[in-house]
Amino acid sequence: MTVAPDLLPLEAIRVVGLAGAGSVGTAWAALLLAHGYEVLFYDPDAQAGTRLKDGVREAWPALRAIYSGLDPLPPLERVGVAATLEDLARGSDLVQENAGESLETKRSVLSTIDAALPANKLILSSSGGVPPSRLQEFCARPERLLLGHPFHPAYLVPLVEVVGGERTREDAVDLAMRFYTALGKHPIRLKKEMVGHLTNRLQFAVLREAIHCLSEGVASADDIDASMRWGLGLRWAMVGPLMTFNLAGGPGGIEQLIDRFRSDVEQWWGALGAPMLTDQVCEKLFAGVRELRHGISNDEWARWRDSALVELLRFRSALPYPADAIQPRQEN
Ligand SMILES: NC(=O)c1ccc[n+]([C@@H]2O[C@H](COP(=O)([O-])OP(=O)(O)OC[C@H]3O[C@@H](n4cnc5c(N)ncnc54)[C@H](O)[C@@H]3O)[C@@H](O)[C@H]2O)c1
Repeated sequence: MTVAPDLLPLEAIRVVGLAGAGSVGTAWAALLLAHGYEVLFYDPDAQAGTRLKDGVREAWPALRAIYSGLDPLPPLERVGVAATLEDLARGSDLVQENAGESLETKRSVLSTIDAALPANKLILSSSGGVPPSRLQEFCARPERLLLGHPFHPAYLVPLVEVVGGERTREDAVDLAMRFYTALGKHPIRLKKEMVGHLTNRLQFAVLREAIHCLSEGVASADDIDASMRWGLGLRWAMVGPLMTFNLAGGPGGIEQLIDRFRSDVEQWWGALGAPMLTDQVCEKLFAGVRELRHGISNDEWARWRDSALVELLRFRSALPYPADAIQPRQEN
């Protein structure tokens, strides 16, 4: 019987390897540099290095607005490039995998990293939808593999979903939670793996209904988005859907609400749409989104979103969450 080695402790993690330097890998690079880590990356695309450095430069002003004490320019001299995935694994204290979402890509990338990275070092996958047990099938030492799924723009949005697979060791999940906390993230630890994890399931449930209402002509694309921007989304940034539902019951809370509306809620659930992305539905979606853009480019929209997020994060960090005063958050 082989005894599992102790994991490399958080304090010893200095070089973080990024397998894949597309949009997510670049965002991780910016955040890691802001927290003093060295970054090593591998990406077969010859343009990836230039793209990564440009992306980090672009992200840096937002990071400086959040983290005081950062230099005016990002420390790009702390970014190294690996010639192969094996070199990446050999030179890293932890690997965050951000290659394309296809299972074939995940198989080749993860099996190569797994073979070259010592068993006491974590492999974290950014995958947005593949359950970790599926990814563990590609590894000979799957117990140190788990998911650390971020949200765009990943250098700003604090949430990371941490999900272990059937064969992940518990202390690997603990270490990932502490690693992301050290990166200024708000990691959540999922107890069970599912396709889409947790947050994409919530997101896609809302998206499905938004597309259904658009295709049924319930409201314009502008008004569908406004219902979130000026209504649900405002509340959801402060209290989540379950607490929102509880507060809707007034002083009697969720118990009173369910007592009164149980059958109505079930009826509304029964009436929700389940659109398919037919050509007709897609046409309506494309037309609606063209209307929403108001002629402004997606890059401009993304820049506006990011600057708004910076302000929101500053506001949020100055606002105590009532539950934290009673029971400070346990990270592991
Ligand atoms: N885009 C998002 O909103 C988002 C958010 C969270 C998580 N994710 C997840 O992150 C991962 C990457 O997504 P992305 O949006 O950055 O994709 P992307 O297409 O922007 O980047 C993928 C990168 O992987 C590189 N790549 C391809 N083969 C490789 C290999 N063998 N080794 C190393 N790199 C390789 C590509 O050249 C590309 O640069 C996916 O698993 C996705 O589900 C995406």
